Amino acid sequence: MSFDRSIKIAPSILSADFANFGAEIRAIEAQGADWVHVDVMDGHFVPNLTFGPPAVKAFRPHVKTFMDVHLMISPVDQYIEAYAEAGADMITAHIEAGPHIHRTLQAIKAQGIKAGVVLNPGTPAEACADILDLCDMVLIMTVNPGFGGQKFIHSGVEKTRKVRQMIGDREIHIQIDGGVTPETAPLVVAAGADVLVAGSAVFKGGSVDTPDVYGANIRAIRAAAEGGRTQAA
Ligand code: DX5
Ligand code: ZN
Repeated sequence: MSFDRSIKIAPSILSADFANFGAEIRAIEAQGADWVHVDVMDGHFVPNLTFGPPAVKAFRPHVKTFMDVHLMISPVDQYIEAYAEAGADMITAHIEAGPHIHRTLQAIKAQGIKAGVVLNPGTPAEACADILDLCDMVLIMTVNPGFGGQKFIHSGVEKTRKVRQMIGDREIHIQIDGGVTPETAPLVVAAGADVLVAGSAVFKGGSVDTPDVYGANIRAIRAAAEGGRTQAA
C-alpha cells in the first residue's frame, strides 16, 4: 500500500471518561476516528500520571484502527518492550527524555512496530535532523505536555513547515498534538501535518450516550483541516 498522506484524526483518550474506556474507544471509532492516541505520563517527565502497560493492554481489544502510544516518560528504554507487548502499533518518545533518542528509536523498531520522535515546544526542528531515517513519524507538540485542554502554541506552525521540508520525499508522518481545534487545524495542515491529535475538541459536549457529538466534532476538525490543505495546494 502506498504511503497515506491523507488527514488522520487521532482523538486523545486523555479527554475520555476514565471509568469507561472500552465504550469510549468504540464510540470514537464508530464516529470516524482514524487512530486512537494514548497519552502515557509518568509524574516526572511531565507533571501528571496516566497509563501503565496493563491499562494500554486493556484498551487494545477495543481499538480496531491504529493505537498510537505517546510516551511522556523518562527514562524510556526500559518500558518500550512492555508497551509494545501491550499492543501499541506505534510508540513515540520525546527527544528531551534522555541523551540517547537514537538508541530509543532503534529499540522501538526492534519490537517490530512503528516509531516516532516527539519535539516539545522549546525544541527546534533541527534537533530531529539526524534521526529522521529511524522515524515513521515526527510529533510536534503545540502545548507543553502534561494536560489536555491547553492553548495552542503558534510557533509549532513554522516548526511544522521546517520539518516537512527536512522530510522531503521520505515516508514520514507529521503529527500535531495540543490545542488542535477547527481554528488551528488548517494552519498546521497547510504547513505539512497529516495526523491531528485532538482531546478536548473531540470529546467536548459528548458522551458514550450521545456519541453523535463526537462525530460532529471529528467532522468539524477534518473539514477545517482539509480546507487548510486546499489552501496550501
Ligand atoms: C498533552 C497530550 C495531548 C492532549 C491533547 O500532554 O499529549 O495528547 O491530550 O489535548 P487537547 O487536544 O485538549 O489539547
Ligand atoms: Zn499526546
